[in-house]
Amino acid sequence: MAGRLTGKRIIITGAIGNIGKEAARSFIAEGARIVIGDLAEEAGRAVVAELGDAAHFVQVDVTSEASVANLIARGVEWLGGLDVLAQNAGLQRSGPIASFEQADWDALFAVNARAHFFGAKHAIPHLRQSGKGSIINMSSLAGKRGGPGLVAYSASKGAVVAFTAALALELAPDNIRVNAICPGWVDTAFNQPAIDYMGGADAQQQKIAALVPLGRQARSDEIAPLFVYLAADESAYVTAQSFSIDGGVYNG
Ligand SMILES: NC(=O)c1ccc[n+]([C@@H]2O[C@H](COP(=O)([O-])OP(=O)(O)OC[C@H]3O[C@@H](n4cnc5c(N)ncnc54)[C@H](O)[C@@H]3O)[C@@H](O)[C@H]2O)c1
Repeated sequence: MAGRLTGKRIIITGAIGNIGKEAARSFIAEGARIVIGDLAEEAGRAVVAELGDAAHFVQVDVTSEASVANLIARGVEWLGGLDVLAQNAGLQRSGPIASFEQADWDALFAVNARAHFFGAKHAIPHLRQSGKGSIINMSSLAGKRGGPGLVAYSASKGAVVAFTAALALELAPDNIRVNAICPGWVDTAFNQPAIDYMGGADAQQQKIAALVPLGRQARSDEIAPLFVYLAADESAYVTAQSFSIDGGVYNG
């Protein structure tokens, strides 16, 4: 039986991590072939061994344009073209602005925001060649709605929301769609710096109970279906959107 992504050729970054790995698993389950770009060579090869023949690993540091260009070139070579770029790699650092260091600000922007520019820039010629394409940018609810201790992280993720809208308008004539995913709390170790800042796991649970209409965090596998939808042709008329997937927080 054909899957929703049969024949699709996808590059995804940050897919040895929690949310990215679930997205990678779902892409393959729906018939896509994928290239995973991430920092750690050994962990990347282990994930690819787990996912099977439809997955391939290329080491990348998304803070370097040359490294991202290499990921796209080697990814396109292995895939035989490109239909979807999913930019999921991300970094979290929290702290009050008065003692926040420039190095941490720059690190957040390099991974969470500037990397999206590198990826899109080098993927676009290949997406144009395919006649259509989808770029999926990982943002966050923090990019739409701030929180204490999250100034730099929120700013970097807000940049992705604006980048997504502007790029979508630029690429619409090429039939290349650009959308962003904005999850709220997802239950992964990624949030530990924010949890520490708010005073530990109990304080986090109280905050979630008070703020999240659905009353809990998401699981990583609850974000993956949105990746699949945005990669698939069924979303052919969807572009320039930043989708909250947050248990109702944004409108709560
Ligand atoms: N967990 C949440 O609550 C949450 C909420 C909203 C958005 N997000 C976003 O979802 C994405 C994935 O988060 P996660 O929870 O799975 O975290 P994670 O830490 O498990 O995954 C992040 C991935 O990015 C990779 N990465 C980091 N820096 C990199 C670099 N310089 N080059 C290449 N790869 C790099 C890591 O190796 C890792 O595989 C991130 O962009 C994050 O900002 C997470």
